[in-house]
Amino acid sequence: MQDIIRQLEEKRRLARLGGGQKRIYAQHAKGKLTARERIDLLLDPDSFEEWDMFVEHRSTDFGMEENTIPGDGVVTGFGTVNGRLIFVYSQDFTVFGGSLSESHAEKICKIMDQAMKVGAPVIGINDSGGARIQEGVASLAGYAEVFQRNVLASGVIPQISMIMGPSAGGAVYSPAMTDFIFMVEGTSYMFVTGPEVVKTVTHEEVTQEELGGAVTHTTKSGVADKAFDDDAEALLMLRRFIDFLPANNREQPPVRPTPDLGDRIETSLDTLIPDDAAKPYDMKELITKVVDEGDFFELQPGYAANIIVGFGRMEGATVGIVANQPMVLAGCLDISSSIKAARFVRFCDCFNIPIVTFVDVPGFLPGTAQEYGGIIKHGAKLLFAYAEATVPKVTVITRKAYGGAYDVMSSKHLRGDVNFAWPSAEIAVMGPKGAVEIIFRADIGDDAKIAERTEEYRERFANPFVAGHRGYIDDVIMPHNTRVRIAKSLRMLRGKKLDNPWKKHGNMPL
Ligand code: HXC
Repeated sequence: MQDIIRQLEEKRRLARLGGGQKRIYAQHAKGKLTARERIDLLLDPDSFEEWDMFVEHRSTDFGMEENTIPGDGVVTGFGTVNGRLIFVYSQDFTVFGGSLSESHAEKICKIMDQAMKVGAPVIGINDSGGARIQEGVASLAGYAEVFQRNVLASGVIPQISMIMGPSAGGAVYSPAMTDFIFMVEGTSYMFVTGPEVVKTVTHEEVTQEELGGAVTHTTKSGVADKAFDDDAEALLMLRRFIDFLPANNREQPPVRPTPDLGDRIETSLDTLIPDDAAKPYDMKELITKVVDEGDFFELQPGYAANIIVGFGRMEGATVGIVANQPMVLAGCLDISSSIKAARFVRFCDCFNIPIVTFVDVPGFLPGTAQEYGGIIKHGAKLLFAYAEATVPKVTVITRKAYGGAYDVMSSKHLRGDVNFAWPSAEIAVMGPKGAVEIIFRADIGDDAKIAERTEEYRERFANPFVAGHRGYIDDVIMPHNTRVRIAKSLRMLRGKKLDNPWKKHGNMPL
């Protein structure tokens, strides 16, 4: 018996060594942690239960039968983050460059299937050279098995991808179908075709970093949700992030005890809106003053910054925040911001997370770039997402809510449950100046007359009461009471039940 135990220990030791000490040094030299070190940082101490440590590939081509490493390049299993169950796979770059073989894929599929059965999130830590070249189509089949599971799990359990090394070729499509992608600056990259292929086909010269590094995907493409300085920061922030999410689509969002009471008054909000309607202010100040303890986890902060999305809590329970940002493009909706917010709204709706929307939007961004780019269809995504969402929806209009954008931003007409306006709100088809120049075109040139008409329009429409008279706004609230009123509304909405008509699925404008 002692011998068998010793053999087992030796087998485990070898498996833990992955591709060997030399390759572990190389991994560290690149500023990256190993697959196991990453799991250790992510999970609560001693909570990791590893599966399939002894799985090996079955390939016999190119001398591979002589070259097997237990675990086959991915560490899989389950554990807890702050006591809550999660499943994890972590690709081991020291073993065949973390490349995906048939067996490697089977290990990932096994934990995904189990996560679906018990209703717990899956975290995928990606660090891989892609398809195991020696395995050919068996590897491609393995990817497709993972893709299929990504799709079936979408909207059932949260799926998060950590990109902590290469993710190239078709391999990018598994992360792309998960709910969130986080990257590490300087050591991670994602692209469908690498710099060499790009050079051959389009003659563009571009580095790996420029083509698919963290900065590219968090500022230009919007593929990634956030980037972190290094592996350790990324994993610690991931722990914080998971705390906001329910484990599956049957659960309510987690509630974390907080000393920050729902009846907190914020007098500074009374002076947030500048007297001059053309002057911007920072919407993030409102968000951090409203949510519990100022704790706001923003997603995609460097991409389409004219809209802000992220998670906070109200009276301990997670809420999704969507807000126009007047500091960027005056808060206009454009293609990128519509897509960014639509995807976030849909995530919240999948996972029973109430949505709080702060509105200050002068309309959709005009211009040929937007029209040629398809703002009609892309803007419709956000409209579709809000209209489809059945979770509690609370909206606060702080200043401008003009035109179609008023309708889109969680208006009463899209089943907004509680719609508030600040006294500074202006709810109209468009701003006073633009409106007067259209309906009183004959008066253009007569400055006094135009000024008079503009003032008349401002008095008539640039306020929240016209909408209030019709019940489109449930109440005009004092800015300092914003947290109190939202908290009370969300409390009232806890038992909300609303179902959309049965269908296989809608056909949102993709
Ligand atoms: C098998 C691989 C591998 C792969 C790397 N390795 N990629 N083995 N299949 N795809 C092995 C290397 O042979 C090497 O083994 C070890 O991993 C580390 O690789 P290095 O090249 O030494 O590391 P580095 O210099 O850091 O370069 C990393 C890399 C490069 C940029 C990822 O390895 C690379 O370009 N790999 C090939 C990438 C690729 O073309 N993959 C297929 C993409 S298509 P030793 O024994 O020397 O340590 C694809 C399709 C998916 O993935 C389709 C899904 C639908």
